[in-house]
Amino acid sequence: MPGQVDRYAVVGNPVAHSLSPRIHASFATQTGQNLSYEAIEIPIDAFERNIHNLQQQGYAGVNVTVPFKREAWELCDRLSVRAEDAGAVNTLSFTADAKIAGDNTDGVGLTRDLTNNLQVSIEQKKVLVLGAGGAVRGVLGPILELSPHSLTIANRTIGKAQALARDFGKHGDIQVVAYDAFECDTYDLIINGTAAGLSNEVPPIPDTVLGDDAVCYDMMYNINTATAFVDWASSRGVTQAFDGLGMLVEQAAAAFSIWRNVNPETQAVIESLRSG
Ligand code: ATR
Repeated sequence: MPGQVDRYAVVGNPVAHSLSPRIHASFATQTGQNLSYEAIEIPIDAFERNIHNLQQQGYAGVNVTVPFKREAWELCDRLSVRAEDAGAVNTLSFTADAKIAGDNTDGVGLTRDLTNNLQVSIEQKKVLVLGAGGAVRGVLGPILELSPHSLTIANRTIGKAQALARDFGKHGDIQVVAYDAFECDTYDLIINGTAAGLSNEVPPIPDTVLGDDAVCYDMMYNINTATAFVDWASSRGVTQAFDGLGMLVEQAAAAFSIWRNVNPETQAVIESLRSG
């Protein structure tokens, strides 16, 4: 139909405060794409039914956020390799043959923010990832792809870190360490992928893990204040401590590119979000 607007949305619960509608509207304006993008809250126990409803209503695709990324993975007819590895899906495309294709752009969102926006290289770096939940599973593949010198996971529940190390073994070697067993090890890049920041906490790592010129990256973000982890790092003299706002915009850009086949510019969008 001429002039028809392609419809997209982010689904989650809660989702009202999602920045994704604003990000995708910026991308659409910038690239001259005719589309709409809204935030839709889905009841916790009715993900599948609601996704099929959106598909039947003619939506072209949806982003999936907390707590549905795993269910989205289970629902897909087709998965990208990185989504298969991540065990979670954040980008659904409703295809012309009435199938659902799933991808996960969180990991490339993180690595593109680090390497393109922040000029932080992962290659040959000693990388420490804090946490072993769904968020971390989503980023391990893309981190390993960039050939770090080593990749270590620390988590309270050590068995979950060991399971990740096992699952990603085919992509590269992953060490596992308990928070109270770091000894003298130092790292070049420390990525916080725990949910500790939600309660304004920081994982219990010793200051000694900070190597000279260590970079700290929090996968969580705050618009107006530093996150607890960025605060922790800055107060220990880390000059390169970043939150995950850039990751959010980059994962959105990668989703936009899957749907629209065009790569939006991200820098201006990140700056505009940062300024409120
Ligand atoms: P997500 O999808 O955000 O990854 P998740 O799968 O529930 O959520 O995982 C949360 C992660 O944050 C886990 O690694 C959790 O550690 P445990 O596996 O030991 O529970 C970690 N986490 C949550 N609160 C934390 C805290 N206060 N300190 C350290 N780690 C914390």
